Amino acid sequence: MSIATARVGSNIAFIKYWGVADATLNIPLSNSISMTLADAHTTTTVAWDNTGTLDGDVFVLDGNTQSPARSQRLTRHLDILRGLAGVTWRAWVTSQNNFPTASGIASSASGFAALTVAGSAALGLDLSNSRLSAIARRSSGSASRSLFGGFVEWEQGTSDADSVARPLYGPEHWDLRDVVAIVSGEEKKLSSADGHLLAKSSPLLAGRIDHVAGWLAETRTAIAQREIHRLGPIIELDALAMHSVMMTSNPSLLYWQPGTLEILQAVRAWREDDGLAVYFTIDAGPNVHLICEAERATEVETRLAGLRSVERIISSPPGPGPQLLDEHLI
Ligand code: PMV
Repeated sequence: MSIATARVGSNIAFIKYWGVADATLNIPLSNSISMTLADAHTTTTVAWDNTGTLDGDVFVLDGNTQSPARSQRLTRHLDILRGLAGVTWRAWVTSQNNFPTASGIASSASGFAALTVAGSAALGLDLSNSRLSAIARRSSGSASRSLFGGFVEWEQGTSDADSVARPLYGPEHWDLRDVVAIVSGEEKKLSSADGHLLAKSSPLLAGRIDHVAGWLAETRTAIAQREIHRLGPIIELDALAMHSVMMTSNPSLLYWQPGTLEILQAVRAWREDDGLAVYFTIDAGPNVHLICEAERATEVETRLAGLRSVERIISSPPGPGPQLLDEHLI
């Protein structure tokens, strides 16, 4: 049995990935920039069965054995690794998230990145992080960015080989916090994989894509100079632009709940009335990520806890890239 275990942080995008130029390869319509999270991670053990005992992959997630239907995406991802290694072995895969699924923290990003790192290590494949990023991207675009720690840019590229993430700065560059306000623990009705396919039906998609190059440049500069008042307005603008595309696609995707809007209004009031340097971003769900510098995080958490619609708060600094662990989950 060849076995390996990897721990990989999820990431929060400052400039988002939404919509695909190539749906099979997950080539995006633009670059995106994110921060890898230290305290929201997936740990995955992959054990390849080279004895031929298994007739299908077995996937246990957070202690629950997944049905073949729920394991389909995992099996398709393992097929890529099997192809690279030239084997037909099936695998036992055990995965644990240290954050709730559907919390608005992308479990697919850390999940597919951890599966790629552990699965390829257990096969003895010696692949660069850039190559691993391309493999992870095939199953979840945002997973390509979790192959690096700190601040990361995924280059759109034009092919399987060059649509990969690259590190901008390590986690020590800037002590930011992603304070996640969870307003609903419900699992979302539409996966982001399906959402990406709908982006092209929105009349607003072209407007967002026309502006994104400028927003990416502004974001790179703001991160380089550690300027929260430069970063913040751009991440809010891009999150609102992405949600405008989602809301105006056909069918329309409305991820927000009333609590989402309560938090957005509160953040703006804290900033404008009290000068609290905090900005929001939102992924494909109702929960709101508040981005601030470390010194403001306790104040932000205390204020969030006072809002009616906040069920739970998770907070994380920037974190490292993938780690291989000696202790296995199986
Ligand atoms: O990687 P996916 O297919 O789960 O898409 C992620 C989409 C967003 O989280 C909304 C944006 C992003 O860039 O992470």
